[in-house]
Amino acid sequence: MTKIGVYPGTFDPMTNGHLNIIQRSLKIVDKLIIGVADNLNKKPILTFEERKDIIVKDIDLLNLGIKEIEIHSVTGLLTEFAKKHKAICIIRGLRAVSDFEYEFKMTGMNYQLNPEIETVFLMSSDNNSFISSSLVKEVHKLGGDVSKFVSQNTIKVLNKKNSSS
Ligand code: COA
Repeated sequence: MTKIGVYPGTFDPMTNGHLNIIQRSLKIVDKLIIGVADNLNKKPILTFEERKDIIVKDIDLLNLGIKEIEIHSVTGLLTEFAKKHKAICIIRGLRAVSDFEYEFKMTGMNYQLNPEIETVFLMSSDNNSFISSSLVKEVHKLGGDVSKFVSQNTIKVLNKKNSSS
């Protein structure tokens, strides 16, 4: 049976931390569905198409070979999205203790909504544990170098966004 996992996030933009989780998730599942969501508490600066385009290009650079990855937009509940895609689990990255409370609440709620779908946590690797999409956007906007945290393509997209705002 093909094991399908969902990796959801706002990905505004995708960072090397997210990419690390994607690579490692593929050791656990046969097929990964990346769910690009609009977290109601966040206001993304990138459109869905821009976020998806970054993800496609970044994943391409990983050379994952035959591994199956799909990218879709999450419009309603994550648990419904996971069920629709026949996923057995939701994968999330955990960076620091500060992530725990938020993830704990979300996992509990998702479990209540659909106990068939497990949430699996992967600890961020050391060098990614302090990265966040917001910090990348802030540092970039203030002229800092973010090339250690995101791809060159992402920097190009952020440059374009900043010059048009
Ligand atoms: N390395 C580096 N950074 C990481 C990371 C990693 N491994 N994992 C997470 N992050 C960072 C992200 O950069 C992001 O930073 P930001 O807050 O500065 O933007 C933050 O951690 C978490 O964002 P992200 O991974 O993009 O996910 P999210 O928390 O925005 O996603 C959803 C939340 C999409 C899963 C949630 O809103 C959802 O499920 N939405 C669908 C609707 C729904 O079902 N709601 C009910 C949920 S109970």
